Amino acid sequence: MNQLFRRKLYSEKDAPSGLLRVLGVWDIVFFGIAAIIGAGSFSSLGEAVFRGGPGVIVLYVICGFACGFTALCYAEFASRIPTAGSAYTYAYASFGELIAWVIGWALIMEYSFGNIYVAFSWSDYFTSFMGRIGIHIPDYLTCSYTEAKKAFFGASENKELINAWKSAPLIGNLKFIVDIPALVINGLITWLCYVGVKESKNFNNLFVILKLFIILLVIAVGIAYINTDNWFPVSTETGVQSFMPNGFTGVMSAVSGVFFAYIGFDALSVLSEETKNPQKNLPRGMIISLVLCTAIYIVLTLVLTGMVDYRKFDGVGDPLAFIFEKSNANIAWMEFVVSLGAIIAITTVLLVFQMGQPRIWYAMSRDGLMPKKFMTIHPKHKTPSYATIVTGIVVGIPILFTDKSFILDFTSIGTIFAFVLVCGGVLLLPAKEKLKGRFHLPYINARFIFPVIFLGGLAFFYFWQPEFFHNLNDWHDPLEGEFRISIIVFIIVNLVLCVLAFVRNLSLIPLIGLSSCLYLLTGMSHNNWFWFLLWFAIGMIIYFSYGYKNSKLNNDLNGDLN
Ligand code: ALA
Repeated sequence: MNQLFRRKLYSEKDAPSGLLRVLGVWDIVFFGIAAIIGAGSFSSLGEAVFRGGPGVIVLYVICGFACGFTALCYAEFASRIPTAGSAYTYAYASFGELIAWVIGWALIMEYSFGNIYVAFSWSDYFTSFMGRIGIHIPDYLTCSYTEAKKAFFGASENKELINAWKSAPLIGNLKFIVDIPALVINGLITWLCYVGVKESKNFNNLFVILKLFIILLVIAVGIAYINTDNWFPVSTETGVQSFMPNGFTGVMSAVSGVFFAYIGFDALSVLSEETKNPQKNLPRGMIISLVLCTAIYIVLTLVLTGMVDYRKFDGVGDPLAFIFEKSNANIAWMEFVVSLGAIIAITTVLLVFQMGQPRIWYAMSRDGLMPKKFMTIHPKHKTPSYATIVTGIVVGIPILFTDKSFILDFTSIGTIFAFVLVCGGVLLLPAKEKLKGRFHLPYINARFIFPVIFLGGLAFFYFWQPEFFHNLNDWHDPLEGEFRISIIVFIIVNLVLCVLAFVRNLSLIPLIGLSSCLYLLTGMSHNNWFWFLLWFAIGMIIYFSYGYKNSKLNNDLNGDLN
């Protein structure tokens, strides 16, 4: 049993040497915006708005909170392990191999599956841009098979998807519907990663400015077209005008799309060794970037839902260009500028994720948890060539047979799960001696505060959304039924956490991070859980049949067998 939790020891010689402490608060903020803003704001916002209506901004605030607390936990991890790395590396040193493997396995969802979604988004903007310059790509070559099928049989209002289904040529009995731009961009990005593109700070800054410019332009131009009636559409549940037309359940069903928009902040923790006075600057930079992104998302959502009825966003993958289409605000030049800018901005997100995945596999392979092949370095390009090609395949093949919303849910559930482990893990870390110049998570005793926050929050929520709780008893309501079990489990787990906080004087920040990430998980449907658990089971089988035996720590004196 102890073998499952054998830990890898890192020594100061593993510390990244020669890194200069040059980054200040605003550098961290810039990196944060670079990592956070991408397909989530350019694409998944559309689906989120369709599900939750204008009230989805409440979810942006909740996710911002959850991510803020999780970010601080990441920073604590990063400052404890004297090597740059990902959650996988930190977990290996702190909680042992099994948890590290689980996190590494979950990170595949964040990086590879996340990139499938980003590739689909890239394709949506590319298609929209080509349309603007007069090149029409047939609809059946710009979306996925399942997406078109779902739209056709689900009576969607999305004309392109329905047309894709109707106009697709047949190969045997199968309709030929393939997202060609998504496949091509994945191939190109894989090739770039294979030959080794250099990350350049100047380029990075340029892209951040471009992303912000486009979003601010959308807000500035769009504001004049807001019709405030659109913020209070008629509720499908009650028939009266409501900011949350599909109720709070509708808002929570948008959790994947909203959470996706925040993924990436975890990358900031690796900057702790390069930050001037990290104790102060790192948390500040992380929190400022998350607050800025939350503010941007809220304003953007208000503009989108004010300009166009939320129901029109069904299946729309390029919402920032869509609002300027002929049938909406009808501003052709904006559609052009936004699509072009989005193509460039989203390409950078693809690159970052596609470079991140092989490096995690490289680390896992070095530890013996993945086959040695994943450590292969290209003799000329000096890149992890084999792992890069496998990443390209792992991203490319599902493009053929999955659809955007499935992949979005899958990415988000896996990433939130990894965050839950990170926050939960920090709770278990022993207290450490404070070293000057390192980041330390401030300790606030949660003994009384956490139960008060949780029970107070529950009471507030009960009075604010009473029908949400009443429906928990309604076992015949199919929509509510999706979330009922998760909410009940969430409440029970939190009551246990209240007791533990009281008995063990737990630390407040990781506890709130853990609780709020668990809350986000309640927005996942049963279907998401099914696929996630299947994925998890496959991971366990691979670990026990391969990683456990081949681990470097197997019979290695380096292992700390506690
Ligand atoms: N947050 C990143 C994006 O929106 C993943 O693309």
